[in-house]
Amino acid sequence: MAVYSIWNNKGGVGKSYLTFQVASEYARTNQDKRVLVIDLCPQANSSSMLLGGILAGETRLNAIHLGTPRTTISGYVEDRIFSPYVNPRTGARYATQVSQYNNQIPDNLFLVVGDDQLELQSSRVTAATFPGPQDAWRIVHTWISDLIGDITTSWDQTPVTVFIDCNPSFSIYTELALSASDRLIVPFSADGSSKRAVRAVLSLAFGVRRQAGQQQSEFFINSERFRMSLPELYMYVGNRLTQANQTSAAAFKTVVNEIGDEIYAVWQANPNLFCIHPTGAPIPSTKRAFKAMFQYEVNDANTASVVSGACGIPISSLSSGTKNVLGRNVQVNQSQLDKQVPNIRALVTAIE
Ligand SMILES: Nc1ncnc2c1ncn2[C@@H]1O[C@H](COP(=O)(O)OP(=O)(O)O)[C@@H](O)[C@H]1O
Ligand SMILES: [Mg+2]
Repeated sequence: MAVYSIWNNKGGVGKSYLTFQVASEYARTNQDKRVLVIDLCPQANSSSMLLGGILAGETRLNAIHLGTPRTTISGYVEDRIFSPYVNPRTGARYATQVSQYNNQIPDNLFLVVGDDQLELQSSRVTAATFPGPQDAWRIVHTWISDLIGDITTSWDQTPVTVFIDCNPSFSIYTELALSASDRLIVPFSADGSSKRAVRAVLSLAFGVRRQAGQQQSEFFINSERFRMSLPELYMYVGNRLTQANQTSAAAFKTVVNEIGDEIYAVWQANPNLFCIHPTGAPIPSTKRAFKAMFQYEVNDANTASVVSGACGIPISSLSSGTKNVLGRNVQVNQSQLDKQVPNIRALVTAIE
C-alpha cells in the first residue's frame, strides 16, 4: 500500500484540484484496487469536487456535516481527542463511497470527507502532543495511520492506494498527514513565490538547510527523535501552465526549470529523500534522467478545468460541448481537454 500526500506550503497551487483529478483517474485505471482520499484540509475543496462540485457537492457536504454521527475527518479526530493514546479502532466508520453521491466517480473510490471543524480542533490536537505518555507526540502523529489502518483492515485483502489532500499551512493536521504518508507529491504554480514555497517544504518536512545553523522544524526534530519515517519526494508538478502565447509559455518553462534545478541540487546532496520509481528503475545518473523521473507538468485547461471542478466530472471523463454550470451554458472545447487530459494520464501512470 502506498500513501501519497499532496502538499505545498502555499495555497492555490492545485493541491485539491490535482487530488480530485489524480485520485479519480487512478481509480478508473486501477479497478483492482481501492482508492482512499483523505481530505485533511478544512476548506474541503477536494471533497466538494468529488461529491459533485459547487452545487451538488456543496449540498452533500453540508448534509454530511450535519449528520450524526459526523462521518467526516473531524468525526474521527474527535474520537482521537477523546482517546488520544489508545487507538479506538473507529476509523472504518469514516470512509464514504463517493459513487453513492456522484456517479461520475468510479465505485472503487472512497473518501474521508473534509471538514472545517478541523480548524477548531487543531489546538486540542496540539495539546494532546504534550501531556500524557512520554511519547505523546509520536502517538498523536500516528492518528492518520491508525485511521488508514482501520479502513484498510475493514476492506480485507483489497490493495489500496491513499491520497491525502493537505492544507497549505504547516499546521498540526498537515504534520499528521506527512507522518502517515510514504510519498510526497508537491504541486507548484509557475510564479515567483513558488520557489520560496518549495524551499519551505524541503525545510519544514525534511530539515533541509540553506545555510549552516538554520533552525529546523519541531516536526523534523521530533520525527528524528521518535524515529518516525518521513515521506519520500515522489514528484513535483508544475501546475496550471498556460500556453496562451509563446512568451508566457517560455516564462512558465523557465520557472519550472529553476525549481527543478533547485530540487535537483537537493537530490545531489540527499538522494535518500527521494523515492525512485517505478520500483526497480535505475537511479537517475544525469539531471535529465532525474527530471524525467520526478518532474511533471499539468497545463491549464481553462473552461474545461472550471467545468470539471464545478460539476465534479473528472477531466478525463469530460466530453466537449455545451455544459450547464450554475444555470449558465458554457462551452468546453476538445482542444482544452487535449491540453490537460494527457498530462493527468501521464502523471497517474507514474503513480504506483
Ligand atoms: N491545471 C489546472 N488548470 C486549470 N485550473 C486549475 C488547475 N489546477 C488548479 N486549478 C484551479 O486553481 C484554483 C486553485 O486550485 P486548488 O486546487 O484549490 O489549490 P490548492 O488546493 O493548492 O489551494 C482552483 O480554482 C482550481 O480549480
Ligand atoms: Mg486545497
